[in-house]
Amino acid sequence: MHLKLIVLTVFLVVIASAMSMPANERRAIRRACRRVRARNNRILSNPNLTHAQKQERIAYVRQWRFDCTKFVLCGAHPGQDFLMSCPAGLGWNRSFNTCDFPSNLPECPGH
Ligand SMILES: *[C@@H]1O[C@H](CO)[C@@H](O)[C@H](O)[C@H]1NC(C)=O
Ligand SMILES: *[C@@H]1O[C@H](CO)[C@@H](O)[C@H](O)[C@H]1NC(C)=O
Repeated sequence: MHLKLIVLTVFLVVIASAMSMPANERRAIRRACRRVRARNNRILSNPNLTHAQKQERIAYVRQWRFDCTKFVLCGAHPGQDFLMSCPAGLGWNRSFNTCDFPSNLPECPGH
């Protein structure tokens, strides 16, 4: 009787945490993109930069901090943000904002 209850409880906890993972992920994506948009807004409102300099510095992508082979693509509004994967074998290069070969990515080894 007791054992059944424990097994059932453990089972429910495992199911609940599995179901809440996508919600955590969605929250993390929203947070990452909030930072991207805030940074872009700071750049765009800086009167000292030329239009070309602004275009060069704004970015709609950010490395996914939980997996260096993934990146977050941020839309103009929350809800238009997506988690993307680099093509197989490639990792995210934060300096160039692009997928890159592992040999260029000392911070993202072993994939
Ligand atoms: C723009 O340049 C002025 C003069 O150099 C400086 O005082 C100001 O802080 C700069 N503004 C920004 C947002 O960088
Ligand atoms: C991005 O790539 C360049 C050359 O391809 C490399 O030198 C640099 O370390 C990479 N940057 C990051 C943050 O991975």
